[in-house]
Amino acid sequence: MKKAEAHYPFLLACRKQPTPYTPIWLMRQAGRYMKEYRTLRKKFSFLEMCKNPEVAARVTLQPIEKFKLDAAIIFSDILIPLEPMGVEFEFAKGEGPVFHHPIRELKQIEQLRVIEPEKDVSFLMEAIRIVRRELEGKIPLIGFSGAPFTLVSYMIEGGHSRNYILTKGMMYQNPTAWDRLMGKICETLISYLNAQVQAGAQALQIFDSWVGCLSPQDYKEYVFPYSKRVMDGVDRSVPLIHFATSSSTLLEQMKQAGGDVIGVDWRINLKEAWARIGEDVAIQGNLDPVILFSPIRLIEREVKRILDQAENRPGHIFNLGHGILPNTPVEHVAALVEMVHEYSSR
Ligand code: CP3
Repeated sequence: MKKAEAHYPFLLACRKQPTPYTPIWLMRQAGRYMKEYRTLRKKFSFLEMCKNPEVAARVTLQPIEKFKLDAAIIFSDILIPLEPMGVEFEFAKGEGPVFHHPIRELKQIEQLRVIEPEKDVSFLMEAIRIVRRELEGKIPLIGFSGAPFTLVSYMIEGGHSRNYILTKGMMYQNPTAWDRLMGKICETLISYLNAQVQAGAQALQIFDSWVGCLSPQDYKEYVFPYSKRVMDGVDRSVPLIHFATSSSTLLEQMKQAGGDVIGVDWRINLKEAWARIGEDVAIQGNLDPVILFSPIRLIEREVKRILDQAENRPGHIFNLGHGILPNTPVEHVAALVEMVHEYSSR
């Protein structure tokens, strides 16, 4: 462990070291549920916010100023590296991302660029540097990317998908195109993540949000080698969190693919997840984000249930099982953070 990690509960927990309490941060902790975010968002589009280092830094710090979170995550999006690769998209109102020319053929894949992060996404590196300066060592900063499968699914489908028919179509029917596309995204992700560490990210999270749509056999054949390639290629002087949703049948393979921490959603009991992945990795999760819409006493019951399952073992990072939802009551978020610290205090 780096000397600088020694006093941060979040980084200690990533390395399965004992901590005075269970650290907590929340996926999508900067976002629409916060008034401060919505105010800034009126002046900029979402992508403008991501591409403006001062604004991205400001938004990153909004939840940190309000809640006693144990880590910050840089404000950006998993789709950010795709544009400089040559894949254009926009966030259409109420629809999520929409890609203008989805990737369907080998010819398009050959034309994709592998990005140079310091040049192509300099705004992100600058945002990381600003946040590190402003945090003044108070808590660590997490950098992130999407995982190969989740990103290529957006590129191929042209947006969010229910059944992944086109993605699986390329996977099954055009192995050459699949390998070239996954290979290119791997190269991009390795330099993209390493550049974030260079800029000052103190931990990394890889989001494989949609990989739960695959059978364990398909994961093994079409995804595992590429996810592993990315994780083997990133700077491991910082801890790496490997997160997916609906992944309870994939946990053993996810662990094998890599990560100091495996992030799980609420569909699996933490104790069972830990038994499946083994005690040598840390675990992150796994409150259902919808629980935060319930009265405090119900949130309390669920928090206690999750902490009981973790049994105060070193290596538990409290988080939601997926990103925090718009309209989540802010006072419930504040209560959650307090509760986790209080009930896990050892
Ligand atoms: O966690 C954080 O606070 C850091 C910022 C962050 C965002 N997106 C900000 C965001 C992170 C880590 C992400 C990851 C991300 N982005 C994922 C993986 C995590 C997950 O939720 O599974 C995915 C699949 C995306 C792609 C994406 N970005 C979609 C599908 C959407 C539209 C749906 C939505 O929630 O609006 C986004 C937009 C987005 N990313 C917003 C934010 C704050 C909302 C933008 C707005 O203000 O309208």
